[in-house]
Amino acid sequence: MKKVRIYGAGGHSQVIRKVLELNDIVVTDTYDDKPSTVHSAYQNTNIETGARDGKDAFPHEGDPVIIAVGNNLQRAEIAEFLKSTFEKAIHPSSIIAESAIVGEGTVVFAGAIIQPNTTVGKHVIVNTAASIDHDNSIGDYAHISPKAALCGHVEVGEGSHVGVGAVVIPKIKIGKWCTIGAGTVVIKDVPDYATVVGNPGRIIKINNPFVSQ
Ligand SMILES: CC(C)(COP(=O)(O)OP(=O)(O)OC[C@H]1O[C@@H](n2cnc3c(N)ncnc32)[C@H](O)[C@@H]1OP(=O)(O)O)[C@@H](O)C(=O)NCCC(=O)NCCS
Repeated sequence: MKKVRIYGAGGHSQVIRKVLELNDIVVTDTYDDKPSTVHSAYQNTNIETGARDGKDAFPHEGDPVIIAVGNNLQRAEIAEFLKSTFEKAIHPSSIIAESAIVGEGTVVFAGAIIQPNTTVGKHVIVNTAASIDHDNSIGDYAHISPKAALCGHVEVGEGSHVGVGAVVIPKIKIGKWCTIGAGTVVIKDVPDYATVVGNPGRIIKINNPFVSQ
């Protein structure tokens, strides 16, 4: 039986666990930097070795890991220091075209669709019922939220978050570390680090998270 370890014990982790359970994959250990104890995923959490402050203490060797952290920046940070191998979590009700590529550590939730010739990077979240059409390119650490709809030939850069129910028309390029607000309709290319909201989408801020303000 396949085994994995999960890094992160919040709400997002609960959803990933359910996907793993449906795939008969066993969770052997759970780690968390700041366990809230609010979510059921907190049970069986190995706190001491999960702390990002104690990187060297983390048992890098062992079963593959899924980083169950919803914040894109934090997920990237954790992926960078882990020297482990990574597993994917693909819900059985999702539809992924044979020619689509899904990177390591990526999770695809219930009812999500990934169409032909689309590439989804590493540690991406393709959330519940998200629809990613043909010939898309989704960068590492991105998050496509529930019911977001990306038309054909869309590019989403590294670390970008497409909000719940957002719509992106064909051939649009969304830069890296962007935020597309809930329900936004994106009809123009989006520069790196921009936050876009509304219909039609308009830029409300540009904020590079790697540069202190
Ligand atoms: C886009 C978003 C990140 C903006 O958050 P923020 O930076 O804190 O911005 P604010 O709440 O200060 O809003 C700034 C302005 O944008 C507007 N705005 C914010 N989000 C909006 C949205 N989704 N659609 C339309 N307008 C929006 C606000 O009304 C406000 O307008 P005003 O200046 O005229 O009053 C947030 O509103 C959002 O939509 N998040 C997506 C959440 C999501 O989809 N999560 C998925 C979880 S699975």
